[in-house]
Amino acid sequence: MSAAKQKALKAIRGMNDLLPSQSDQWLDVEATIAKIVSDYGYKQIRTPIVESTQLFARSIGADTDIVSKEMYTFEDRNGDSLTLRPEGTASCVRAGIEHGLLYNQQQRLWYMGPMFRHERPQKGRYRQFHQLGVECYGWTSADIEAEVIGLAEHLFRALGLQNWRLEINNLGDTETRSRYRLELQKYFGEHFEQLDKDSQNRLESNPLRILDSKSPTTRKIADSAPSIIDFLSPESTQHLADLELYLQALEIPYTINPAMVRGLDYYNDTVFEFICDDFGAQATVCGGGRYDGLVEQLGGPVSPAFGFGLGLERLVQILAEQQDTPSLEKQPSVFIVSDGKAARAQAIVLRSELAESGISSVMAMGDASFKNQFKRADKSGALIALIVGEQEVSSKTVSIKVLRSVEGASVNDQWVKALLDNTGEQVSIPRPSVIDKVTNLLDSL
Ligand code: HAM
Repeated sequence: MSAAKQKALKAIRGMNDLLPSQSDQWLDVEATIAKIVSDYGYKQIRTPIVESTQLFARSIGADTDIVSKEMYTFEDRNGDSLTLRPEGTASCVRAGIEHGLLYNQQQRLWYMGPMFRHERPQKGRYRQFHQLGVECYGWTSADIEAEVIGLAEHLFRALGLQNWRLEINNLGDTETRSRYRLELQKYFGEHFEQLDKDSQNRLESNPLRILDSKSPTTRKIADSAPSIIDFLSPESTQHLADLELYLQALEIPYTINPAMVRGLDYYNDTVFEFICDDFGAQATVCGGGRYDGLVEQLGGPVSPAFGFGLGLERLVQILAEQQDTPSLEKQPSVFIVSDGKAARAQAIVLRSELAESGISSVMAMGDASFKNQFKRADKSGALIALIVGEQEVSSKTVSIKVLRSVEGASVNDQWVKALLDNTGEQVSIPRPSVIDKVTNLLDSL
C-alpha cells in the first residue's frame, strides 16, 4: 500500500524565503553596509534573537503597538516568558549593560539581522524582516546625530537610492513632553467625538501617538494641534539648531515635521525618518533618534544614546524598483568545459586555482557531451570558456574561447586583442600560464 501523497508545507505568512535569484543583490547591499559602517569606525555587536519578554515591555513601552499586539511571545520549557526580538535597540542596551560597555565609555555599534512583528503583511511590511541598526553611546551633542544621519545618507548614495526625503523633529525632554501631553489632551479632548476609536483610547495613555494617526478625520484635527516645537526648552531649541547647522554643512536636505513622534516610547529630543514616497504605504526606510533615558531605565548607568534602524527588505525592494534591472543575479566569468576523466581532473584543479585568484567560474559536472557543455557555457552568461579535452591534456595546454563580444574594451595587450578580434575561435595556451592570461583578459574587459 503506498502512503497517501502529503500536502507540501509552506512558509509562515509574512516570513519570506530569500531565493538564489535575489541573494546576489542582498549580498552586495550587505557588503556595502559592512564597508561603510566600518569606515566610520563602528563595531559590530550580535545579540540573540530571543530575549526575555520583560526587556521589550520595559523599553519599547507597554502602550505601543509593538508591545501590546505585535510580539511573538511564548513560554519556553521552563515556563519563562520569551519573545522573538521585534527590534534591536533594547537588546543592544541589555548587552551593553551586561558586558560593561556603557560605563563612562563611548561606543559606536552596529548590527544586522532578523526582527519579528506580528503585523498585517503587505508590500514592505513583513512578520520577519531584517534591520541594519546603528547605535551610539556616550554623546549628548548634536554632532553625533549628524554623523549617524550622514552615515545613512552616505549608504543611500553608495547604493544609488533616489527620491528619499529626510524628516527631523525634536520631542524635547521628559518635562517638556509632560507639559505638551497635557496640552494635547486638552486639545484632543475638545474634539473627542470626532476622533477614531484608537485615538480615543490613546487620549489618556499616549496622546502624542494621536499625532501620527492614519484616520483622515483625526488627521485633520491633528494638523491644527499645538506644535511641540513651541514647547521646547532653550536647550532643546539650541540642540535642534545645532543639528540643522551640521546637516546643512553635510548638504543633506531635510524638513522639520513637528508631528513625527515615532512608534516607540524611549525617544527624547531628536527623532528622524528617511522616507521614499514612491514605494507606497510602507515608505519609511530608516527611522531613529535619541534615547538618553533607556540605559538607566534598564538598570545601567546614565548614558546618552542615539541610533537608527533601517529596514533591509524595503531598501532592497526600492532599489530594485528604481534601478529596474531585469536580473540582478551575477554571472560567472569563466565556464570550464572538459572531456574524459584525465581532462576532468585538470578542470577541477583549474577551477580551484581560478577561485584562489578571485575569478568566478562554473563547470559542467557529470556525463555531458562536449556539444551539450558548450550549449550550457553559452547560456551561463560567462565571458570566456576554458576547454580541456584529451588533446589539451597530452599537449599540457588549455584552450580559451571568448563567448560574448565585449564592446568598449580598452585593450593594449596584443594577445588579448587577437583573441577578442576572433570571437568564437579557440586559442591554445600553455597550462602554467592559464591563470595569468585569464586574469589579464578579464582585467581588460
Ligand atoms: P522602527 O521605526 O520600528 O524603529 O523600525 C525601523 C525600520 O525597520 C522601519 O523604518 C522599517 O524600514 C523597518 N521595519 C519596521 N517594521 C517592519 C516590518 N514589519 N516589515 C518590514 N520592515 C519593517 C526601530 O526598530 C528602532 N529600534 C530604531 C532605532 C534604533 N532607534 C534608535 N536606535
